[in-house]
Amino acid sequence: MSIYGLEGRKALVTGGARGFGAGIAAAFVKAGASVTLADVLEKEGAETARSLGSKAKFVKMDVTSDADWERAVKQTIADQGGFDLLVNNAGIEVTSLVIDFDADKLRKMLDVNIVGTALGMKHAFRAMKPGGPAGKGGAVINIASVAATIAFPAIAGYSGTKSAVDRMTRIAAMESGKLGYGVRVNCVYPGLVATTMGIQLAEDIVKVGLAPDMQAAIAGVVEQTPLGRLGNVEDMADAIVFLASDAARFITGIGLPVDGGMGM
Ligand SMILES: NC(=O)c1ccc[n+]([C@@H]2O[C@H](COP(=O)([O-])OP(=O)(O)OC[C@H]3O[C@@H](n4cnc5c(N)ncnc54)[C@H](O)[C@@H]3O)[C@@H](O)[C@H]2O)c1
Repeated sequence: MSIYGLEGRKALVTGGARGFGAGIAAAFVKAGASVTLADVLEKEGAETARSLGSKAKFVKMDVTSDADWERAVKQTIADQGGFDLLVNNAGIEVTSLVIDFDADKLRKMLDVNIVGTALGMKHAFRAMKPGGPAGKGGAVINIASVAATIAFPAIAGYSGTKSAVDRMTRIAAMESGKLGYGVRVNCVYPGLVATTMGIQLAEDIVKVGLAPDMQAAIAGVVEQTPLGRLGNVEDMADAIVFLASDAARFITGIGLPVDGGMGM
């Protein structure tokens, strides 16, 4: 068994219906793990799980709900016989210039991106720590963003939520280490990827007047990226498999850029 593999690991991936979450779940299954995909999108989530075969299951959940987390973790342990990997991937992005901020939209984004991630870490710690219903330690990977590391216009609110994810990751890693939970906690900073969210962002950049058209919006990002292309879902998923694996056994409390150098 390779230390880079995930044989026998039991994972929960939020926002697993599509985009990064679906790609991360596929990479986990390929690396030998079983996976529960969690999402508010019931139909898409169930279809994605089916497409990954017998090692993938779907549970409907809203990451902003404590009760949903309790149910999803219970379901993960019941279906897989344990729980040792959590990817806090579910997130939303609302593009807005600071001058146009909408309080309700900002609060919704804080709820999903910050509260959702915070509750995920809470329930992972409770389940994975010694004496918990899973009880064998594990790893949490939070999805932050290159937006937490640079000043990209029109996403101040979103960037704030991802900076919060970054900071919470480090403090949770510190608590887990000091209090003996046996759970490593890390985050990644992905660059722009053409998922539903990524495409919407490029369109919004045009709408707020920061680029003349989609092509120019994307070319602007590529221009800022030393490796000279947009990332893809597999680029993200492979880095997350690494952080989840035993090859990363002495890594906790970090933010790993997976952005082609955009944030350096
Ligand atoms: N696409 C990018 O360019 C990019 C870059 C950096 C970081 N990210 C981050 O990566 C993660 C995944 O993004 P994506 O591009 O795959 O987006 P996406 O919109 O394609 O997928 C996000 C998924 O999260 C789910 N979701 C949203 N709110 C939820 C909630 N309250 N409870 C449960 N599920 C919920 C959605 O239904 C969807 O399936 C997000 O956290 C995002 O902020 C994306």
